[in-house]
Formats: sequence, structure tokens, C-alpha cells
Amino acid sequence: KKRVAILISGGGSNMVTLAQDMLGDPMHPGAPVLVLSNIADAGGLAKARDLGIPTAVLDHKAYDTREDFDAALNDTLRHAAPDVICLAGFMRILTPVFVDAWEGRVLNIHPSLLPKYKGLNTHARAIEAGDNEAGCSVHKVTAGLDDGPLLGQASVPIRADDTPDSLAKRVLVQEHQLYPAVLRHFLTGEPGLLRL
Ligand code: GAR
Repeated sequence: KKRVAILISGGGSNMVTLAQDMLGDPMHPGAPVLVLSNIADAGGLAKARDLGIPTAVLDHKAYDTREDFDAALNDTLRHAAPDVICLAGFMRILTPVFVDAWEGRVLNIHPSLLPKYKGLNTHARAIEAGDNEAGCSVHKVTAGLDDGPLLGQASVPIRADDTPDSLAKRVLVQEHQLYPAVLRHFLTGEPGLLRL
């Protein structure tokens, strides 16, 4: 099986859906080998342990520069020897020290219909702009923030009474469908953009 590492910073709901998809299907092409968080008390770490997945914590505040943190990240990841690295709510900007080391093997999920709304506060910005739909995207990670070739997208309607929180909840349901589906496609080498 292809070895999959998952990087998180928070609750890890996307990590759980990725891991459960892999662990629940003996025919799945991937296996989760490491869940790594930059936040020591990220809720997702306990969930990963409950699923029997090895975990690691790398506190970014212990490093002077982003490059130093990324070098430590590379070291930790090399021990896990991942074929693919899934960023799943990993809230750190990555430098070329990381991106160049794993080029072509890193996926990210972002809560907007990229190329719209890179960065933070995506749902508030979509509502503010008067958009009638929002969504999520999975893309290959390149040096640019929330840039890189799109692998999959799912959209949801924006309702008149939506708040950023209510919209985030609707999008997250789609994230949990999209990311496992894209990972399967990626691991089996299926080309093209997945639309849910
Ligand atoms: C998800 O909505 C994900 O798309 C977003 O953080 C959330 C993590 O939730 N990612 C980003 O904003 C990346 N910049 P989770 O920890 O429950 O998977």
C-alpha cells in the first residue's frame, strides 16, 4: 500500500474521514502511517490515537524561522517515509524547504472554490461578495499559497441567512466526501478533476 501521512492543526475531522476510508477498506490503495500536528493539544491527535495511527507533534513556536520548522518537519516525515502527504486543516504556510522536498506528493484541502478566496476567512468573504455558491477544493501543493493544480471540487449553495459558521458546516460535509474520493483517485493515478 501507499504510505499516507496526514498533517493537522485542529479538530482533524478531515483526517478522520481520510483515515477511516483507508482503514475501513482492505482494497484501499493507501494506509495511514502518521498524523502530525504543529499544535500539541490539537483535538485530532486523540482521534488519530483512537484509530491506532502513530502521531507526532512538532511545535512551530520552537523554531526561529519557517525554514527551520520545515526542515524539522522533513526529518520527522522522512522517518515515516510517506508516498503521499495530505494537509488536512494544517494551518501553516510552507516554504520551499518543505514543498521542494515532497514535490508532487502533497495534497491540500481548502474551503473555497479555488482560485477564489485563497488564504483565511473564505466563507465570510464568499458571503460578503454576494456569491450564490461556495465549496471546497483539493489541490496539489506548490510553492504558492493555496495554489497548484486542482484535483477535485465540490460546491454548495449559499443561502440568504447564512453566517460564516453555517456555511462552513455545509462545506465541511462536502469536504468529508471530496477528500477521501480525491485521495483514492490520486493513489490510483486517475487523471482529471473530480467534481462532486
Ligand atoms: C477545514 O475546513 C479545512 O478545509 C480548513 O480547515 C478546516 C479543518 O477542519 N483548511 C484551511 O483553512 C487551510 N488553510 P478539520 O480539522 O476538522 O479537518
